[in-house]
Amino acid sequence: MSHEPHISASILTADFARLGDEVRRAADGGVDSIHLDVMDGHFVDNLTIGPVVVSAIRPASDLPFHSHLMITNPLAYADRFADAGSDLIIFHVEADDDAGAVIDAIERAGKRPGIALNPETAAEAVHPYLERIDLLLVMTVHPGWGGQPFIGEVLPKLSALRDEIARRNLPVPIGVDGGVNLDTIGRAHAAGGEVLVAGSALYSTGGDLTRTVAELRSAALARVDMDTHAERT
Ligand code: DX5
Ligand code: ZN
Repeated sequence: MSHEPHISASILTADFARLGDEVRRAADGGVDSIHLDVMDGHFVDNLTIGPVVVSAIRPASDLPFHSHLMITNPLAYADRFADAGSDLIIFHVEADDDAGAVIDAIERAGKRPGIALNPETAAEAVHPYLERIDLLLVMTVHPGWGGQPFIGEVLPKLSALRDEIARRNLPVPIGVDGGVNLDTIGRAHAAGGEVLVAGSALYSTGGDLTRTVAELRSAALARVDMDTHAERT
């Protein structure tokens, strides 16, 4: 696991009246990617954005766009999110479509596949796909809303997945999504989270995000240093 945290800005709690500016604000603040939460009102009890919004904000930044599809039928939409400018397309292992077929469709569209699992879903559910994905997204909230509390009980599962990926010697980073903030990012990173998605922790603060992003990075690293120190003494 590389210890350099990757900060990904979830725009779900940004100002939707000025979404392009909000993407630019995160990019100017120094984040590493933009996380787009797509909800169909069926897989989760909320409706957010579709491909038309992704393509509308695509010109706002060259940063990688990670489209997080919380939808029941990702197979029907993978192409459209690819055409809209997503770089990495993440779907849920709990969705109705066959995960192997969804990964095929994302790869055929020339994009990178990622898979997500909900807090209550066992680690073994994603084991068959670890060799085929570019990101494993571990949900630390029940998907559907921003600003929810972090579910710390998920961390042992995250560490078990980190160990499984290391055992197979795979270059698959683990993402952590939901309730990531200055209090929780250290534990999430120390447990094996490399791509740390932050929404309300970023967008609940107005103005320049540079300081918030830097604080999140050092809070992630501080915990790793603490653990490394503890191991040595
Ligand atoms: C929740 C989404 C998350 C959420 C993160 O269903 O997948 O990406 O927007 O927002 P915070 O960081 O506020 O929990
Ligand atoms: Zn998300």
